[in-house]
Amino acid sequence: MTTPLDEQQSVLEIQGQTPLRGEVNISGAKNSALVLMAGAILCSEDCRLRNLPLLVDIERMTQILAAIGVKLNRKGDVIDINAQDIGQDQAPYELVSQLRASFFVIGPLLARLGMTRVPLPGGCAIGARPVDLHVRGLQAMGADVRIEHGVVHACVRGSRKRLQGAKIYLDYPSVGATETIMMAATLAEGETIIENAAQEPEIADLANFCRSMGAKIKGAGTNKIIISGVERLHSTDYCVIPDRIEAGTLLIAGAITQSEISLSPVFPEHLASVIAKLREMGPQVIMEGPDRLRLVPAPVRATDIKTLPFPGFPTDMQAQFMALLTLSEGSSMVTETVFENRLRHVAELQRMGADIRVKGNIALVKGVPFLSGAPVMATDLRASAALVLAGLAAQGTTLVQGLHHLDRGYDNLEGKLRKLGANIRRISVVDEPEYSALS
Ligand code: EPU
Repeated sequence: MTTPLDEQQSVLEIQGQTPLRGEVNISGAKNSALVLMAGAILCSEDCRLRNLPLLVDIERMTQILAAIGVKLNRKGDVIDINAQDIGQDQAPYELVSQLRASFFVIGPLLARLGMTRVPLPGGCAIGARPVDLHVRGLQAMGADVRIEHGVVHACVRGSRKRLQGAKIYLDYPSVGATETIMMAATLAEGETIIENAAQEPEIADLANFCRSMGAKIKGAGTNKIIISGVERLHSTDYCVIPDRIEAGTLLIAGAITQSEISLSPVFPEHLASVIAKLREMGPQVIMEGPDRLRLVPAPVRATDIKTLPFPGFPTDMQAQFMALLTLSEGSSMVTETVFENRLRHVAELQRMGADIRVKGNIALVKGVPFLSGAPVMATDLRASAALVLAGLAAQGTTLVQGLHHLDRGYDNLEGKLRKLGANIRRISVVDEPEYSALS
């Protein structure tokens, strides 16, 4: 796998307005796979995870787990994980700071060992992203938690060092906090109830994974999750759900290039709000089978979008829809409510001719007849996908820089688009001197 440094010296060159056609395969879900890998710490026997996407973030999680004593063996999209010998080693900050999901290890480590230290991951490009809700949940379950020198020290009170079940109301249905508390609760003594829990499909996937190891969890996927703690979990072999955000991104690739494409495997119910919005805008999304969707293009109408926790419209699809709205008929209002700094792609879309004005967390998008290719810079993962999508539809050549963002979360996006017929290639600015000014 290439390193992030390599990718800072690469660009994607896209010749726009090439129609797409055919079928595309959807990889396993990044945001499930990352938390499931951490969840494997809950068990001291062998855990096998299948359908793992090939991503830099997954590679980083592998390194973080290895640093705390977990044994991992990956072959293709299958990884074997054994956390029998985990110790008190702290995950190195250099790795943790590059991957927020690394904080997921805190719940399983605390549940298994009774005490742990995890560096705070810090803010990121889309917002400050505090972990106060994770911490409050663990405290309610009997952990003393303090932060010293950027490291979270957590220790279970009492001589038995076992977390206690608790009733926890989340002020906000945070995905990460729900996952942290759910994992910790699987091995706690007694019953834990999480109210106002996140309902994202990745939560249900984590619950199913934990259940496959013998955990007792009810209600995952609703706003009230009940976990009855067990003494220990056992070995499992589990398949990660398809990535709903990758699927949504590829649906937009069809819509923005006015192309008919099919996607599988997907779980359409995970994409309900995305499919509803696309239909409202004109394109048809046809269920071709239980795990297969076909996008039939149509002229795109403007619409308003507001990001919300699941089952609302996902923040992880906001940037990609904005790329589509730039070419729609009419004016749209896009409101980002989940993260405070997730409109940085606007400036780059403007460089391609988009008509967008930003007021606070709202972007007003007025459709234009065409975008024109330009060198653009990805500012975060989903922004990078939005720029690729805009490049597919734009007149002329688009050069997308900042590919380390894209490679964090999309498994070979350009390969999949190329297979559909897109004129897209990754080039090293070192090899191609005409692009060296971009590096
Ligand atoms: N929040 C708090 N305190 C907390 C936790 C969260 O204030 O203790 C706030 C956050 O700052 C944010 C909001 O609550 O403003 C939502 O955060 P949440 O915890 O729900 O998100 P997350 O667990 O940090 C996951 C995904 C994100 C995705 C969000 C929302 C992973 C690894 N990440 O983040 O994925 O956007 O849920 O669905 O699961 C991405 O894939 O591009 C991505 C950013």
